[in-house]
Amino acid sequence: MGSVKARIEQIREQITEANYKYYVLDQPTLSDETYDSLFRELLELEKKNPEYNDSSSPSHKVGGPPLEKFSKYHHREPMLSLQNIYSEKELKDFYERWAAVINNNFSIIGEPKFDGLAIELVYENGLLTVASTRGDGETGENVTNNVKTIRSVPLKLRGNYPSLLEVRGEIIILKEDFEKLNQERAKKQEPLFANPRNAAAGSIRQLDSKVTAQRHLDLFCHSIGTIEGINYKTHWELTQLFSKWGLRTHTLKKELKSISEVQAFFNEVEQQRDSLPYEIDGIVLKINEIKNQRELGFLARSPRWAVAYKFKAQEGITELKEVHFQVGRTGVITPVAVLEPVSIGGVEVKSATLHNEDQIKALGIKIHDTVVVKRAGDVIPNVQSVITEKRTGKEKPIHFPKNCPSCGDKVVTSEEEVAHRCINVACPARLSETLKHFASKRAMNIEGLGDKWIDILLQKKLIHHFSSLYDLTSEQLQILERQGERSAQKLVDAIQKTKHNTLDRFIFALGIRFVGERTAELLALHFGNLERFLEAKEEDLLKVEEVGEKVATAITQFISDKKNRTEIDKLLEKGVQPKPIKSHGGTSLQGKTFVITGTLPSLSRDDAANLIRSNGGKVTGSVSKSTDYLVVGEDAGSKLIKARELGIKELSEAQLKTLIG
Ligand code: IVH
Repeated sequence: MGSVKARIEQIREQITEANYKYYVLDQPTLSDETYDSLFRELLELEKKNPEYNDSSSPSHKVGGPPLEKFSKYHHREPMLSLQNIYSEKELKDFYERWAAVINNNFSIIGEPKFDGLAIELVYENGLLTVASTRGDGETGENVTNNVKTIRSVPLKLRGNYPSLLEVRGEIIILKEDFEKLNQERAKKQEPLFANPRNAAAGSIRQLDSKVTAQRHLDLFCHSIGTIEGINYKTHWELTQLFSKWGLRTHTLKKELKSISEVQAFFNEVEQQRDSLPYEIDGIVLKINEIKNQRELGFLARSPRWAVAYKFKAQEGITELKEVHFQVGRTGVITPVAVLEPVSIGGVEVKSATLHNEDQIKALGIKIHDTVVVKRAGDVIPNVQSVITEKRTGKEKPIHFPKNCPSCGDKVVTSEEEVAHRCINVACPARLSETLKHFASKRAMNIEGLGDKWIDILLQKKLIHHFSSLYDLTSEQLQILERQGERSAQKLVDAIQKTKHNTLDRFIFALGIRFVGERTAELLALHFGNLERFLEAKEEDLLKVEEVGEKVATAITQFISDKKNRTEIDKLLEKGVQPKPIKSHGGTSLQGKTFVITGTLPSLSRDDAANLIRSNGGKVTGSVSKSTDYLVVGEDAGSKLIKARELGIKELSEAQLKTLIG
C-alpha cells in the first residue's frame, strides 16, 4: 500500500506543478492528454483508497481557478481613463463646459500624454510596497519586483512624504532603446514589438525581473489614487511635492488660462514631439485647483476635470494591393484596403478602411495605386489620397460586389445612405460579427473567446446567438480540435463569469446601432437597471445625456424588436444579471441648492429634480437666501420675482444641462 500512497502523492505533485505552470506562469508543461490521464488515475486511486484523502488534493478543484501570471492587485481607487478630444472645436466645447460649472477663476495644467504603460506605485510610510498595472481599472497585476528594477522608481520616498501614497504614472521605453531591443530580437529571430508602448508593457510583464532590469525602462508620475496625511491645493503643487519626494515628473508642463493658451501649448508640444526621446501622443489637460476638480467630479470611468487632447493623425505612403469586402454587424459592407505593410508612427499598418463606395469614387482609387494612409491613435487607419503621378498603367478598377460576400444575398443600397448592405438578418458574417462584438474585450470581455473561437463554434453549430454561449459545456468544447478538459473548462468558466458584468458593458455588448461605450455608460447610469432600460420610450431616452433622436430611435427599434427581446429574455433566464454602475459621485452640482419654477421645455419638474439630485445637487420648494440657482421655465410666477429680489442666478433647462455637462 505504501507504493500506492507514494504514487498518489507523486501525481498530486505533478498536477499541482502543471497547474501552476499553466495558470500562473502561462507555460504549459504537460500535454492535455497526459494531464487528463494523470487526473483520471488520481481520481481512481483516491476513490479506491479513501484513507489517503486530502482536502488539498488537486482532485478537489477540477481545472483550477482562472489564475493569471502575476498575482492580482485590487486598486484602492479605480484607475480611470481619460476622454479624448481631437480638434480645437472639441477643445472649445470642453472648455466651455468646464467654465459653466466652475464659476470662479480656474486654470489648467497642460502636460505631455505619455504613450506607455500605466502603473500604480503604493508607498506606505515612505516605502514602496506594491507596484501594479492598470488591468481593468479595478484590479491589475502585481508587478512589484519588475518595477523595482527601474532606476527612476525610488524604493523609499524622501522628505516629508504622506503616510500613504498611491502614485500613478507611465512606464516608458526610450525610442532609442526600443530600436536596439528590436534589432536584438530580430537577430535572435524573436517576434518584434510593434511599438515602444508594447515594448514597455512586454518588459514589465516579464516573469524574470532580470530581463526587465536590462530593458532601461523609465517612469513619469502624473497623478494619484489615495493619499493620506498631506494637504495640497492644486495639481501644480502636487507635482512639486512629487519631485520633493523623489518621484520623477515631466518638466514640459505649463499653467494655461485660456483656450488660446491651451492651443498654443498643444502646438508647441506637437512640434517637439519628434525630438523627444520617447513617444507621446498628445497632451493632457487637467483643472489645476483641487476644489474645482471636486466640483466637476467624475463620470463612471473618467474624470470630468481632465481630458486628453490627442495629436493629429500621422501619415505613411504605400501600395494598395487589393480590396476585401467586410460584412459588419449591421450588414454594412465596408471595403478594406489591403496594403503593402508600412510603418506609421512606429506601428505597422497592413490594412485601412476605404469607408464606402462613394469614398472609393471620390478618391478615384484603383488597385496597385500608391496611396497616402493616415492613422490616429487607436482609430482604424484610413486611405487619405492617391498619388496619381505614381501610376504605371497597371492599375485596375475596384468593383463593389453585387452580392454579399458571406451569404450571397443581393446587396442593397438606399437613397438615404451611401452604405451597401446585406439585409439578410441570418447572414453568417453578420451573426459572427455580432457575436465577436459581444465577446470582445470592451463589451462582455469573455477571456479566451477570440474571433477564431466564435467562427469555430458557429461552424460546428454549437452557438446560434448570445444566450447559447452560456449553454456551452466543457464536454462540448473538448470535442473540438486540441481541446483538453482544462482549457475547455477554463473557457466555460470565463463565459459564466460574465453573467455578472456591469450594465454598461451589457448594453454595449448588445451591439445596438450608434450605441458606443460612452453612450452605453450614460444609459446605464441614467436607467440604473436593465428592466428600466428595456422599458424606456423614445421620450425617456431623449432625456439621457448626449442621446439625440437618431440614437433614441435606434435603441427603441432594437428593444422593441421581438427577436431581440426573446434573446435578452433568454439571457436573463440563463442567469445573466447585469450589475448597476455608479457614477463616482456625479458631483458636478455638489453643495448647490436649486429651485424649479414654471414649465420646462422638455423635462418634467420631477425629472429635472432627479437629474439635479443624481448629480449631487439639492432641490427645495421655495426660494431663499440659500438658493444657488432658480431653474426657470415658461409661466414662472412668484418664485422668479423673489429670486430676482435676492439676486439669485437663473438657469434655463439648457443651461442646467450645460452645467451638468
Ligand atoms: S492623468 C484619471 N496624465 O493616459 C486619469 N494620465 O487615457 C488620470 N497618461 O491611464 C490620468 N500621460 O495612464 C494622466 N500626463 C498624464 C498622462 C496620463 C499618459 C495615461 C494614463 C491613463 C491614460 C488615459
